[in-house]
Amino acid sequence: MNKISDKLDKISAQVENQVKKAKDQKEINDIKIKQIGRKSELNQIMKNLGKLDVEERAEVGKKSNEIKGKLDSLITSKLQEIKVIELEKNIGNSKIDITIPGVRPETGSVHPITQMMQKTEEIFEKMGFEIYTPFEIDDDYHNFTSLNMPEGHPARDAWDTFWTEDEHILITHTSSMQNRILKSANPPIRAIVPGKCFRNEATDARHEHTFYQVEGVYVDKGITMRDMLGTLQTYFEAFFEQSIKVKFMPDFFPFVEPGGQMALTCVLCKGEGCKVCKHTGWLEILGCGMIHPNVLKEAGIDPEQYTGFAWGFGLERLIMLKANVQDIRLFHSGDLRFIKQFN
Ligand code: FA5
Repeated sequence: MNKISDKLDKISAQVENQVKKAKDQKEINDIKIKQIGRKSELNQIMKNLGKLDVEERAEVGKKSNEIKGKLDSLITSKLQEIKVIELEKNIGNSKIDITIPGVRPETGSVHPITQMMQKTEEIFEKMGFEIYTPFEIDDDYHNFTSLNMPEGHPARDAWDTFWTEDEHILITHTSSMQNRILKSANPPIRAIVPGKCFRNEATDARHEHTFYQVEGVYVDKGITMRDMLGTLQTYFEAFFEQSIKVKFMPDFFPFVEPGGQMALTCVLCKGEGCKVCKHTGWLEILGCGMIHPNVLKEAGIDPEQYTGFAWGFGLERLIMLKANVQDIRLFHSGDLRFIKQFN
């Protein structure tokens, strides 16, 4: 027993000494494998415990376990100590200056059209309107025929657009969902259709080939032009956050009768007259009118019982007025200097 016990003390002292002198992780890992690993002398002693007599086995067993535990935690804490020293050394040698302030990643923001479309939806929702999404690619029937414009009707020419080879079109004006909405529900029907509208036309400061439309429709018993003017005036006052007057000026659209343009008092000069309103005090902003009986009939609604109104406008034109934007093409330019002004 004495012999084995002495051997264990010797191993313990030797390992403690080696650990104390170890300078890097490799050295300490080698000590671990060699001194307390599977093939170590200490492990051999523990493996051969069975060959000892009972009393000796108990004593050697206890002592060897204690020494193994002690050496194991000594090695682990030395390894930890070495890792910290190595890390500090690496930071010291590194070319990275950790005192330089970091670079903030650019954060995005919601596009002004999306912001204003959300505002528009909220205003109409408060007035009981449902929100529909248009088909951006649709057929001739929904864009023209169902709207009292049969094939060959000259008014079609006003809305030239992009055709696919299989005779579908990118929706060209702000009324293409009307027939579907009127067919899909029973009056009272109140709906708006925010989405894209496409025009095959030369662009300028007020005209884009693609703009964001707000189509609207309201059908019920006893609906008159007074409801139309009141609904749209309520929307414009909420959108521009100021009191606004509206007026209706007759114009021809085959799907409404009477039909016209709605104008608002100029939100920039408050009706006094300025460059933007061409010194008239009024801004023509949308097409609207009372839905033509033929359009109601086509959608299965009896025009003797029900009346309604419809409208369509481009949201960019409103944002231009609200935020004093001079050129509509800026909205889709992808120019961050423009977009960031709406953060
Ligand atoms: C129409 O699209 C009709 N569907 C409007 C309508 C609906 C009339 C219901 C009667 C009843 P218009 O082509 O005028 O009409 O366009 C309507 C609105 O879309 C314009 O007043 C304007 O606000 C916007 N708009 C038209 N063309 C462009 C364009 N190229 N770029 C930006 N906005 C445009």
